[in-house]
Amino acid sequence: MTQAEAKKRHAQLVEKINEHNRAYYVEARPTISDREYDALYRELCDLEKNFPELVTPDSPSQRVGGEPLKAFKPVRHLLPMLSLDNTYSQDEVRDFVKRVQKLLPDEKLDWSVEPKVDGVAVSLRFENGKLTIGATRGDGVTGDDVTANLKTIRSVPLKLSLVAASQVLEVRGEVFMSKAGFEKLNAEQRAAGEEIYANARNTAAGSLKQLDPRIVAKRPLDIVVYNLGKVEGANAHPKTHTEVLSWLKSLGFRTPEKIWHCHSADELIDAINELDKVRKNFPYETDGAVIKLNSFAQRERAGFTAKAPRWAIAYKYAAEQAETKLNGITIQVGRTGALTPVAELEPVFLAGSTIARATLHNEDEIKRKDIRIGDTVVIEKAGEVIPAVISVVESKRPRDARPFDFEKFLHGKCPVCGGKIARDPKYVVWRCENLQCPAQATRRLEFFTARGALAIESVGGIVADKLVERNLVREPLDLFELKLEQLATLNLGNEESPRTYGEKNATKAIAAIERAKTFPLARWIFALAIPDVGKTTAQDLAKFHETIEDVAKSELLRDILDYHEKIAELPGLKRENPERYEKLKNEISEIAKRLIDSHFAAPSKSKAEKESGIVTKVGPVVAKSVLDFFNGKNGQKILKRMRELKIHPASEKISATKVAALPFAGKTFVLTGTLPNMTREEAATKIESLGGKVSGSVSGNTDYVLAGAEAGSKLDKAQKLGVKIIDEAEFLKMCAG
Ligand code: IVH
Repeated sequence: MTQAEAKKRHAQLVEKINEHNRAYYVEARPTISDREYDALYRELCDLEKNFPELVTPDSPSQRVGGEPLKAFKPVRHLLPMLSLDNTYSQDEVRDFVKRVQKLLPDEKLDWSVEPKVDGVAVSLRFENGKLTIGATRGDGVTGDDVTANLKTIRSVPLKLSLVAASQVLEVRGEVFMSKAGFEKLNAEQRAAGEEIYANARNTAAGSLKQLDPRIVAKRPLDIVVYNLGKVEGANAHPKTHTEVLSWLKSLGFRTPEKIWHCHSADELIDAINELDKVRKNFPYETDGAVIKLNSFAQRERAGFTAKAPRWAIAYKYAAEQAETKLNGITIQVGRTGALTPVAELEPVFLAGSTIARATLHNEDEIKRKDIRIGDTVVIEKAGEVIPAVISVVESKRPRDARPFDFEKFLHGKCPVCGGKIARDPKYVVWRCENLQCPAQATRRLEFFTARGALAIESVGGIVADKLVERNLVREPLDLFELKLEQLATLNLGNEESPRTYGEKNATKAIAAIERAKTFPLARWIFALAIPDVGKTTAQDLAKFHETIEDVAKSELLRDILDYHEKIAELPGLKRENPERYEKLKNEISEIAKRLIDSHFAAPSKSKAEKESGIVTKVGPVVAKSVLDFFNGKNGQKILKRMRELKIHPASEKISATKVAALPFAGKTFVLTGTLPNMTREEAATKIESLGGKVSGSVSGNTDYVLAGAEAGSKLDKAQKLGVKIIDEAEFLKMCAG
């Protein structure tokens, strides 16, 4: 390739990748597969390796983060970044409207209301269309230069398309960590035995302040923009806020989720209330509504105070926090024996419901926050669902409150079975080590019978409790030997006031148990509750193995482990022992080739692992966990028992070409509402058996929403995103091909 050809191809690739980044990260509507994207990206990196002079600051390859910085440089904003006055009551909103009307007598006022994103304010400076500086707000006049960190955010365009380029353009917005991203990050932390992060906003702020952009690149940060700073030489001249937002959108930015237009205080209050109802469905945390005058001419006439504009105000929703007394701590036993401390609280009303319990996560969390029984604590609805104890009001601490000692509190024993407990060295949790512990047995049974697993829901909850309590079920597979009359006569009450399960319920339950035997392999793998194996992983495993025995002694999983062990040995070896290095390299390539041939892995795009790098469907942690599970006593027992019970989950292992030929291959479905003739479970199983995937939430990746009666917010979202909505009849037609 000549220099000129390389240059041309490089420019094409940059443009293409930027286009796909935008489709994926801003519009959530990817137009090519991850594989195709990876191929483009790899081509770009290869080209840049051969022609290093082609690497420009706006190349997508520069998003992964360069060398760590020693400190952030100060940046002076071209126009100051103002903040907003806050209000906390609707009366204050009315006062605000009156104030502005007084400043602009006789003028018709047009207001906008949009979410106040709970993140970190930043300013992005583009010069001649290229992102040159990204900075935090700082004191409003000078901020920190965090350009390298901001570049790692895929929804930050590195280059604005030329048509819309201006000499200088400052774009302002809020960097956030999405609720889902935050949850995922914490799940990873938990799995790695690391401390969990307190909330999404602080984690986003902390991430932006990282001096090493490579760490930032791994954090799920995103941005919403809502404002302009300095604009010089632009080819667009928006006159209203609405026009600014649509201009920014056309330039490739993500703008607020929803915006309302209002013409009176009453309408503003309606909009604020409406936003409050829908904001929990937004991907990011919000803590208020921002009210702004729409017209720039009017804004100019209304003017500014020293700190904030007179034409805008932030309405803050009541903080979803409350103070209450911690009456006690109880310990819950999970299905893996994990002991989770739970706060028993003086009941308190918080964001729409009465809260009497909250999670305390684990021993380290209690220590870190120094939570003591008798303390007054601040609780919050974390992620707007599970309440958590945030902090302690130390000034209100009773004099006799003693630090909480987890092990002492439990006298070193499981609170349910009295079995030995131990702190898992890999994680921050304590566990009950008794596999026969009834609490564990119940949790495992609940998990096994849950809707997403083997869907024997009539045996969950209290029925599970009683089956274990009465010694009818010690482990989930015992279900398959239950007799109808044992279930029918099961007492769900107590000795004094018995309440039997009944023949009708029992018959239904037995039918569900029988049906479970025919469920596909993926469901079974999931239902066995193997550590680190979630639903998607279970599906991946099922695609590459024919039977449960195949999974148990999987060559593929052994290869994955082997591969990672060998890769880990490589660093430094080239110098120390070139012979062994070469040998290992060859072995690694062999394994990689085998895995790629089986479609269990794809070539990696990462530079470090270039030569034999692969991306596998499951990683070494899962591989080890699965093999350990089936090699252990318990796993062996399960396999034997399944053979005896003649449970042979149907194989879904099909060749890649066959998968591609299935009618729903590569298609993602979301189910909502009640279908007339089939349960959602049945529909889900059908979809999976025809090569499709079922997801819990609607996004740009969703292909179909299968909606029944009383479909809720998922349907709204599907309509908004333009996802195809089908009913049962249409679905059955598609199934029939
Ligand atoms: S407009 C001069 N719009 O809230 C007007 N700010 O309390 C500048 N924020 O510093 C701000 N979402 O960090 C605006 N939709 C939104 C916002 C928003 C969040 C933040 C921003 C600002 C702070 C003011």
